[in-house]
Amino acid sequence: MKPMRRCRRGFPLLCLAAALLVAAALLPGAAVAEGVTPSEARRLRDEVKDMFYHAFDGYMKYAFPLDELRPLSCQGEDSLGGYALTLIDSLDTLALLGDKEKFGAAVEWVGKNVRFDINKTVSVFETNIRILGGLLSAHLLASDYATGMRIQSYDDQLLHLAADLAQRLLPAFDTPTGIPFGSVNLMYGVDENESKITSTAGGGTLTLEFGILSRLTNNTVFELVTKNSVRGIWSRRSKLNLVGAHINIFTGEWTQKDAGIGTSIDSFYEYLLKAYLLFGDEEYLYIFQEAYKAAMHYLHHDPWYVEVNMNSGATVWPLFNSLQAFWPGLQVLAGDVDPAIRTHAAFFSVWKKYGFTPEGFNLATSTVQNGQRSYPLRPELIESTYWLYKATRDYRYLDVGRDILTSLQYGARCPCGYCHISDVETHKQDDHMESFFLAETVKYLWLLFDLGAGPDNIVENGPYKYIFSTEGHLLPVTPEIALVDEHCSYFGAFCNASADRGYGTSASSTNHKKTNYTQLGDIQTPSGHYSAPDMLTTRGYIKGVCPGLTHAQKLGISYSDEEGNILEQTSEGHEDHGVSAVESSVQSQSSNIILISNPVGSQQDEALESRPESGDGVDIVTADSDSLSHDNTGGSLGVNTEEISEGTEFTSKQTED
Ligand SMILES: *[C@@H]1O[C@H](CO)[C@@H](O)[C@H](O)[C@H]1NC(C)=O
Ligand SMILES: *[C@@H]1O[C@H](CO)[C@@H](O)[C@H](O)[C@H]1NC(C)=O
Ligand SMILES: *[C@@H]1O[C@H](CO)[C@@H](O)[C@H](O)[C@H]1NC(C)=O
Ligand SMILES: *[C@@H]1O[C@H](CO)[C@@H](O)[C@H](O)[C@H]1NC(C)=O
Ligand SMILES: *[C@@H]1O[C@H](CO)[C@@H](O)[C@H](O)[C@H]1NC(C)=O
Repeated sequence: MKPMRRCRRGFPLLCLAAALLVAAALLPGAAVAEGVTPSEARRLRDEVKDMFYHAFDGYMKYAFPLDELRPLSCQGEDSLGGYALTLIDSLDTLALLGDKEKFGAAVEWVGKNVRFDINKTVSVFETNIRILGGLLSAHLLASDYATGMRIQSYDDQLLHLAADLAQRLLPAFDTPTGIPFGSVNLMYGVDENESKITSTAGGGTLTLEFGILSRLTNNTVFELVTKNSVRGIWSRRSKLNLVGAHINIFTGEWTQKDAGIGTSIDSFYEYLLKAYLLFGDEEYLYIFQEAYKAAMHYLHHDPWYVEVNMNSGATVWPLFNSLQAFWPGLQVLAGDVDPAIRTHAAFFSVWKKYGFTPEGFNLATSTVQNGQRSYPLRPELIESTYWLYKATRDYRYLDVGRDILTSLQYGARCPCGYCHISDVETHKQDDHMESFFLAETVKYLWLLFDLGAGPDNIVENGPYKYIFSTEGHLLPVTPEIALVDEHCSYFGAFCNASADRGYGTSASSTNHKKTNYTQLGDIQTPSGHYSAPDMLTTRGYIKGVCPGLTHAQKLGISYSDEEGNILEQTSEGHEDHGVSAVESSVQSQSSNIILISNPVGSQQDEALESRPESGDGVDIVTADSDSLSHDNTGGSLGVNTEEISEGTEFTSKQTED
């Protein structure tokens, strides 16, 4: 049941605005006066740069080498392991801003001074995304001439640090399920009384960093344990293909069964797709598509997302939580742009209402959720704004960026940096500045305006495509990491980067039932529109599928039988069929490529149901170029604001369209 959209008293301006936006969208190329011009985008970009240095210099002056800055009192604090967290988290932002001098000095300092043989118990998740990811991205920038950030004296110090750190995290993975403990002592392994409960994101947000480390060091163990962890989680999904929020890593029982796309789960989804995009490993893509389809079916109350019981699908929490705001950006990467536009507009309307997004916003009462009133400088809405601008080149996303920047400048700027907002209704400032402010929030804002100004940075114009980690770290899709050569030698399909069909055609020009494949991820087409012909000429993220080879063969690693039941729809208790299911699935895939699009639609259901019978390697999710060729400037920014204020019904289970 969808809430009706109509103009109602109290919102005439919004309705008018909506009508105008729709009208504007109907006129291709219609110029609209109010938009951010390239020269204003340049000015905003420079303002963001100033924002970066206000906070970074404040950190260096008052907090370094402690972990984080207290920007109100101008002091420092250790919040993670006591190893200059904010500096490590900021390294690749320095490089992105082109500050070779500070980047070089910081890399050198970290290489000389940071040590991990310390008696500290740290979060595996946070240490991975902030420290390991920060070290690896900086290493890849500092060691490669092609990035323009090559440091002469650099000799892989950060890579060695990263390998040492990851080695120290490994004891956490020694559990019956393969899902790691939430925390580990860097010197002594897992503490005696460490909790056996961890979050889904905690076990599912490790693959990118550990996988890169494996590929850079030729030590497969890192990739293996993190993939096992993902399989350990996914094999315990519910019959609805939903995962809960917390799980016991010894028994595999879910201790918190609320499924959602926000808190405790969010980046589990993100890393499934990104691990595929970075590594070309279709197993992650397969899991992502199943998981995504279920999320869109059970969690999506267009344009919002709710939390439901993972077994019954019944709505538990009709809450927007601010971590959900990464989702539209992920949808852009998955090629599912239309719902992303609507959801982003809804989330942004919450920002507009308060000037910031609260951690929790109750959709039933349209009020800030008590106890979740703060805005700790989170990046997710800005991140999605960047991706949507990149996908659509709709100037209104620059306007959104300008609004967000303005809020931060007026509400959060404080003496030595930027302050958390402890209550979005009072805008009271809090004496904290999380390291992700410099790693992500500022980075995505800067990228947004730089793109608007006519981009000049390594992400848009550099030698590689980049995947952003969940901490915003730049992870280049280099041949070394993406194993392009191996794909070539195994597939013969993907290796021809200049082939104008991109993938798959040479390997299997026969047997294509569906020819509607298109591109996941590459949204750098100059036109800014998702027209299928353009997509087919792009290259990079998409790998062909390897017919007849298992993942174990491809990566030279093997998996235990136990986690093999990935393909079992009914999950628990069918573990012995697992491996063959995985293998036959891999073998049966043709090089059809895969697009997440209209995933709730019945077409996909049919495609999935018919998979076993179909001999010619049916694609995993049907590509539907229709939705891609839509004009994505569809004018829904702000349209949904009325739904916030009227309080939508969130009492019943998701109903079918
Ligand atoms: C490690 O740190 C803990 C907590 O600070 C302390 O109790 C313990 O004695 C230390 N262990 C060693 C071997 O220094
Ligand atoms: C772990 O818990 C046990 C039982 O409560 C206690 O005796 C022991 O001292 C604890 N160990 C640590 C390192 O805290
Ligand atoms: C990893 O293996 C490749 C191919 O055998 C080799 O070229 C490379 O130098 C190795 N890298 C490391 C860090 O040992
Ligand atoms: C790669 O593709 C280009 C353009 O389609 C073609 O001219 C070239 O022969 C291909 N190379 C190989 C090795 O297949
Ligand atoms: C591709 O998709 C379009 C739109 O959904 C459809 O009309 C067309 O028949 C499809 N083509 C093939 C070959 O499936």
